[in-house]
Amino acid sequence: MALCTRILLILQAFIPLALPEQTGYTETDGGWHLYHYSAAQEEERCTVERVDASLTYASFMQQYAYKSPVILQGITDNSEFRTLCSKQRLLQEYGERLVRLSTANTYSYEKLDIPFREYVEHYLRPQDMNALGIDTLYFFGDNNFTEWGALFEKYTPPPFKIPGTSGAYSFGIAGSGTGVPFHWHGPGYSEVIYGRKRWFLYPPDKTPEFNPNRTTLSWLLDTYPFLPEEDRPIECTIRPGEVLYFPDRWWHATLNLDTSVFISTFLG
Ligand SMILES: *[C@@H]1O[C@H](CO)[C@@H](O)[C@H](O)[C@H]1NC(C)=O
Ligand SMILES: *[C@@H]1O[C@H](CO)[C@@H](O)[C@H](O)[C@H]1NC(C)=O
Repeated sequence: MALCTRILLILQAFIPLALPEQTGYTETDGGWHLYHYSAAQEEERCTVERVDASLTYASFMQQYAYKSPVILQGITDNSEFRTLCSKQRLLQEYGERLVRLSTANTYSYEKLDIPFREYVEHYLRPQDMNALGIDTLYFFGDNNFTEWGALFEKYTPPPFKIPGTSGAYSFGIAGSGTGVPFHWHGPGYSEVIYGRKRWFLYPPDKTPEFNPNRTTLSWLLDTYPFLPEEDRPIECTIRPGEVLYFPDRWWHATLNLDTSVFISTFLG
């Protein structure tokens, strides 16, 4: 990266509400326009292991299922589902259906039900850096399976099951710089259909330093740079065609680098 670009990026990180700019990211965006906040950048070094489709179920169970996050590359082909998730197709099929928005703080209680079209037209935008998580509403899951079931049927989930659990989908669309702050729950998978999503993880015995009322973006800008090396999270950015697996009770926070369409499979 040229020095002047880097300086510009650093400057922009400190200008609240800097205009979104388009990245050089060239994958198809499904009409979602992957507008990108300069402040929402990929990590310098990915510290989550990446494995390809040759990973066997036995190796997955032995090396990762109960021990460590991992990114699985190319294990499923969701190109048909991706086509159905283009902006035009989703608005056409689901524009008038309701979506349930949640606040972006760790303990999210406030909910708002609005038509999907209204969400896309009025709420889907880059994160306001000055807003608290509690004042920021997103479509982050909480799906009505009666209304969206036909779409989810077209999704192929990752093939590796954890014994004693069953999967529940969580589908969402959110703007650049949005994300869920640190929290934990059971194991699961996360996949982006369009856009990129940066992940921050800590093992269950290492509670991260964070304010549950603040957004992931404000944590990234205000806390992360000052963390000593040993307190840094395990992190990586996933792209379409990759699935991140997180084990039971691992702390995690996410940051959508672009406008992102994503789906998680929670194993409970
Ligand atoms: C889900 O959608 C159906 C069909 O429109 C509706 O009857 C039901 O109340 C919705 N469920 C919730 C929890 O909103
Ligand atoms: C988060 O917000 C709640 C409700 O406004 C407040 O009671 C709590 O003290 C806040 N927590 C922190 C760590 O700022």
